[in-house]
Amino acid sequence: MLVYLNGNFVSDEAATISVLDRGFIFGDGVYEVWRVVRGRLFESERHLRRLQHGLGELRITQPEIADAKQLSRIAERLLSENGLQQGDATLYVEITRGTAPRAHAFPPADTAPTVFAMAKSFTLPHDVRAAGAQVITTPDVRWLRCDIKTVQLLPNVMAKQKAVEAGALEAVFIRDGIVTEGSHTNVFGVIDGEVRTHPQNQFVLPGVTRDVVLEVAAASGVRVREEAMRAADLERATELFLTGTTTDVMPIVRIDGRVVGSGTPGPIARRLYEGLRERLEA
Ligand code: PDD
Repeated sequence: MLVYLNGNFVSDEAATISVLDRGFIFGDGVYEVWRVVRGRLFESERHLRRLQHGLGELRITQPEIADAKQLSRIAERLLSENGLQQGDATLYVEITRGTAPRAHAFPPADTAPTVFAMAKSFTLPHDVRAAGAQVITTPDVRWLRCDIKTVQLLPNVMAKQKAVEAGALEAVFIRDGIVTEGSHTNVFGVIDGEVRTHPQNQFVLPGVTRDVVLEVAAASGVRVREEAMRAADLERATELFLTGTTTDVMPIVRIDGRVVGSGTPGPIARRLYEGLRERLEA
């Protein structure tokens, strides 16, 4: 696999970083994941803006990859040289604060960020989507800046592993009785005929798929309220679903072993999935 590291295109085996990289030592970095459909980055600008937001909040110098033209140049080469211009793929970009002697405070201002990018082929589990997924709930033990897409994903990793060990696809975080989001997805419900999802603030990642799905809902006359569900609402929701770059719109048919709605993917999730799919294929 050909990857991008600090301005060079090299094989993944030759791409090495220092043990003193602040991403390795402190989890001091951000990342982004784009969906790629037939060589095109889906919602390229929105993902880039979120990456720039994270870099700005963490006061990491914007490297050249955070510029739209440079990103598309790097993505094009990774996709073409790895034979990923057909079908679905993902582009992953990670930027850390760079390499410096271990000390909590920022290194000197001229420390170059570490910049890594890779593209991989991707297949959505369409069979799981067609049947509907099982999820579990788990306490949201994350920090209070979940709007920043940092590489510090340990709570997400632990939650996802708990889901996998329970035979579930995803873990849904609950903070103080409120449904926030999934370990790598945003969470939606349908209550009294109205779509509900957590508002965009420091408790959730501003999901790009979430935004697109909200636009699809508005365009198809589906009522939406960006107001968090309470954990108790999960029991009366007629539909629940997840959204994400690597999840699309994924209906949930069981949560903590309990059946959701009719126990099959609901009509609103299906409609929103179709709308998203159209945008992905456009
Ligand atoms: N995760 N919430 C969290 C915590 C996430 O990590 C993600 C995405 C989302 C969905 O955001 P989007 O629709 O922009 O992909 C919500 C990526 C895919 C990942 O970590 O691999």
